[in-house]
Amino acid sequence: MAYGWGVRSRPAEDRRAELVALYRELSGEHACPLMAHRTQIVFGSGNADAQLMFIGEAPGAEEDRRGKPFVGRAGKLLDRLLEEIGMSREDTFIANVLKCRPPGNRDPLPEEIEECSPYLFRQVALIEPLVVCTLGNFSTKLLTGEPTGITKVHGRPQTRELGGLTVQLYPIFHPAAALRTDAVRELLREDFARIPGLLEEARSRAVPPAAAPELGPGLPKDEAPPAGSGAPEPPQLDLFE
Ligand code: URA
Repeated sequence: MAYGWGVRSRPAEDRRAELVALYRELSGEHACPLMAHRTQIVFGSGNADAQLMFIGEAPGAEEDRRGKPFVGRAGKLLDRLLEEIGMSREDTFIANVLKCRPPGNRDPLPEEIEECSPYLFRQVALIEPLVVCTLGNFSTKLLTGEPTGITKVHGRPQTRELGGLTVQLYPIFHPAAALRTDAVRELLREDFARIPGLLEEARSRAVPPAAAPELGPGLPKDEAPPAGSGAPEPPQLDLFE
């Protein structure tokens, strides 16, 4: 069954704990064809209870080095565009289709997408965003399930069911493409300007709290991750606020 707009299935702290568990699972068991090439997995980062998610393609060299998505030039543009609409990374969760860097930044292969995409769908299901922005062709085609490219569908919100959740899917150009071409940068900026309105619209459609399942309080930013089994904490847990 798909959850309706804005209905949180479980308290934020439970979903965050499961996101941490998913990160541990992925770090330990991910039988990725790219394992030999990567430095570390790049799980994603940001607010585990975000209403807005961005989904890129795959980590690049800088992301592979630092273990965090969009920390290179494309990421700086993403930060700037967020700032222009009065938001920041802390308001979002940013992830990629692939969690490992393809060698030489080549395009993801179908078998790599097949291996990695169940983790992405589980991330979406746990974060329970209202709006999911796909950045560029790979994430857009994966999440729409259609072959239509980003040039045709960018800036057109679509209501979709993802990970058992009804969301507004909003395909936009990849910031790396916007860095290469001024015209694409302007289109991306225009598409970005609609994000606050889409969030507002989605919130207004959300089921009022009285009618929704019980909500947990938001997590304080500096809250320590849930206690584990006593094993040393993996290094990326501070990525989830
Ligand atoms: N490009 C992506 O698609 N993802 C990143 O994390 C960085 C660059």
